[in-house]
Amino acid sequence: MRRVNSTTITGFILLGFSDIPSLQHLFFLVFLVTYIVTLAGNLLIIVLTLADPALHTPMYFFLRNLSFLEMCYTSVNVPKMLRNLLSGDKAISFIGCAMQTYFSFFLGGSECFLLASMAYDRYVAICKPLHYPVVMNRKVSTGLAAGSWLSGLLMSFGHTSMVFILPFCRSHEINHFFCDIPPLLKLACGDTSRNETAVFMVAMSFVTFPFMLILMSYVFIISTILRMPSGEGRRKSFSTCSSHLVVVTLFYGSACIMYLKPNSSYSPDTDKFLSLSYTIITPMLNPIIYSLRNKEVKGAFWRMVRRRSSVLQPEP
Ligand SMILES: *[C@@H]1O[C@H](CO)[C@@H](O)[C@H](O)[C@H]1NC(C)=O
Repeated sequence: MRRVNSTTITGFILLGFSDIPSLQHLFFLVFLVTYIVTLAGNLLIIVLTLADPALHTPMYFFLRNLSFLEMCYTSVNVPKMLRNLLSGDKAISFIGCAMQTYFSFFLGGSECFLLASMAYDRYVAICKPLHYPVVMNRKVSTGLAAGSWLSGLLMSFGHTSMVFILPFCRSHEINHFFCDIPPLLKLACGDTSRNETAVFMVAMSFVTFPFMLILMSYVFIISTILRMPSGEGRRKSFSTCSSHLVVVTLFYGSACIMYLKPNSSYSPDTDKFLSLSYTIITPMLNPIIYSLRNKEVKGAFWRMVRRRSSVLQPEP
């Protein structure tokens, strides 16, 4: 399995969690269940927001877009990771690794801006309710979503190409469970200072900047909620906002630590567990937090179940 110092690059080895062999099967089981829950939860949101006319609003358009993105995002890394946990062969081809890096940065970067667009949508809806239909019209919401996807796509293309033109002549063993840029840079033998600057700039513009915008939106949202006259409405909006803030902080916080920390404090083991939070945990939590706790979505769900059961059992 060890191919250290080979001169031709045929591929890499994803070491994953192979330093804790006793937990491989447990990890496999946990990640498999998480993956299935993620796909099912997000698919349910896509179906509900498409089928129910009450959910044809900008907020649910963004939510559907986020669910679609999360399904793609987890599918870039998790199936390969599950395979590696079960088999001894942990190899990934050079092209496969480049594709994995490209799609995780593309989808991850798009998610950063999509979450910010969703926070902006809530800010306008709660703080400027009278302007909401005009400010968040169809054109603006599709534009914000399309802009998020496009910026992720372009950023990832530049960023990934910069890494894969580097010579990899040291070890080919990536101490991570997917092809991510910081562990890849550890293996490159050329000058990686430009890549490190790029990682810093991308992290600032795709993680820190949208995170600041989101925090600002929520400061305005929360101060508006606190001025609401009804105690019931206040408590409900407050619980919704705080659960949004928890997932958002988990996602951006872990990405910030991962990509913004100084290179000298690189520790593969902490990094592996840190990246689990944005590759596995937030994609699973997002559908739960954003909608399954939400009355409108629950209503749409029961309406759909009733419609289906009346189709299956026609009146005699
Ligand atoms: C997400 O948004 C983009 C851009 O507006 C749109 O083209 C795409 O169809 C949307 N995807 C889903 C699943 O709603």
